[in-house]
Parts: sequence; C-alpha cells; structure tokens
Amino acid sequence: MSYVCKDRGTESCPCILMETGQCYTCSIFKTGKCDCLPGWQGVCPFAEYYQTDEKIFEVKPKTFEVIERKDYSDKLKVFTLETSAGFALKCKEMGTFLMIHIQSVSLPLSVVQSHIAGGKGYVQLAFYITGPKTKRLNEACVEGSMLEVEGPFTNGLINSELFMYGKPTMVVAKGIAIMPFINQKDRIKDYLMHVYLDADKLTDEFVRDYLGDIALFTADLRCDGASIIKEIVNTDMTGTNVLFMTSPYYVNQLLKVCGNLTSKIIYPNHSNMCCGRGVCGACSFTDEDGITVKRCKCNSEIKKEA
Ligand code: FES
Repeated sequence: MSYVCKDRGTESCPCILMETGQCYTCSIFKTGKCDCLPGWQGVCPFAEYYQTDEKIFEVKPKTFEVIERKDYSDKLKVFTLETSAGFALKCKEMGTFLMIHIQSVSLPLSVVQSHIAGGKGYVQLAFYITGPKTKRLNEACVEGSMLEVEGPFTNGLINSELFMYGKPTMVVAKGIAIMPFINQKDRIKDYLMHVYLDADKLTDEFVRDYLGDIALFTADLRCDGASIIKEIVNTDMTGTNVLFMTSPYYVNQLLKVCGNLTSKIIYPNHSNMCCGRGVCGACSFTDEDGITVKRCKCNSEIKKEA
C-alpha cells in the first residue's frame, strides 16, 4: 500500500518529516528516485524544500481567548474561541480539528463551526467529559481564559478528499462524533438525503441549536445499525457521499460488512493523536504490508498502478 500525506502540496508542506527523510510521499531522500503516483500534478514537496533553502513548515502554537461557553449537560460542553479571520476561515475545511494544550496534555477537538464577523474569527469546539484530559479542559476553559492551540489540522476524517460537493449525501451519526458534519452542514444541506442521528450523549437543546434546520431520522444504532448498514451497501457510491460519523465500534461494524467500500465512505480518523504533526508516533498504524504510517498525516491509501 502507498500513502499520500494529507498535507502534501499545502502550506504545511514540506514538514519536519522531509527534514528527517521520512516524508511519506516523497521517495527522493530514501531511494534517490522520484516515486510519485502517476498523474500527480500538485506541488512537489522535495522541489519546494530544495528551492526554499531547506525551509520546513513549523507549527507554532497560538493563544486564543475563550469568549463563550455553554454547558449542554454536566458532560457536554461547547465553547467559542476568538481567533483571527484567516484562522477561522481555515477551520471551515472538512475534517478540521485543533489540538488544545493544557499544562502537559494535548486534546484533539473537531471544529463544530467557525465564522467571521467584524474582521474577527470565531471557532466553536465541543467536548464530552470522559476522563482526566477532558476534566482538565473543563476546568481550564472558562469564559475569559486563554487556551494554547495548534492547528488547524485537516486529517480528522478518513477519505474527506473524496467528498463531492453538490452531490447527494447520506449521513449516519452517533453522539459527539457528529461534530465534523455540523462543520460542513451549511455547505451541503441542500443535498442531504437521509440523516440518521443516534443522539446518544447529545441533548435536545444541542440538537435544536445545531441541527434544528434539517430533517433528521432518529436512530438507535444498537438496534437499527444493521439495516442502516444494508442501506449503505445498496447505495451507489459513484454519485453519493456517505458520511459515517460514529465511534470506532460502529465504524468497524460497517467496514466488516462492506470492506470493499472502505475507500469510499468518509468516517472519523479515530487514531490516538497527540502532536498531530507526525512527530510523536502516538498515531502510528501498521498495515497488512508491514508499512507503518502516522495517521495524523496520512489517510489516503492508494494502490499504485502496476
Ligand atoms: S499524533 Fe504525533 S505522530 Fe501523529
């Protein structure tokens, strides 16, 4: 299996992995030969690196103020950061998440919404208190507090690059895994087919605030999961997007039944993320060919033509 880095050709490329000779998509440091996928017409990371005097993209943490916070339940919280307009604009990309640093811990949080007003940016994030990291965030993120943030990172959804704007879209979502869909909702709501929501962990008020303008089918994935998966299997994926926004358990159930659709369904990148930059290795994944990649950087698995 060959991998293409999600950041390839973006302003985040070349990164530290080029400097250390571990760039996933550039083979020049490893083999001395260009091994690009056939048909690649984007920016060459090596040329960029070479022509800019070996300059790499450095992620610099930023500090933003928490200007609003809403407690939807004793565990579900949503807060808003005031950012620059440019930062908020970048957060609109599908699958965007931010890394929040609090003391010595880092938490990846999907962007729920972002907008620009009066020349400033506003980015909303949500979390559900489940353990020490989210408890710490709950204490730190009060109105008026400053949070250290890295990002935006764009690898929060597997296969997000395949999303076809302007095409019918089916959505299956459970609990707080729905956040990346909410971030895209306004761009795609005219093309939504069925939106199945298992509102586990969400409250009625949250559903009203963020999903009140779309038609939802209430679902309980524990009972309805099999029939929904059957509907996905029978969907023509050449002209339809399928967003499957659930926990790893249900994603695995789906992939077990329709493994051949793995490369077509868009689902959350549930890797254990820590740095989000390809440095720490917390998100390492080894495929059936024995190739290890960092899932915070790579999510496209593309077989090369023989
Ligand atoms: S999260 Fe650190 S390498 Fe991917």
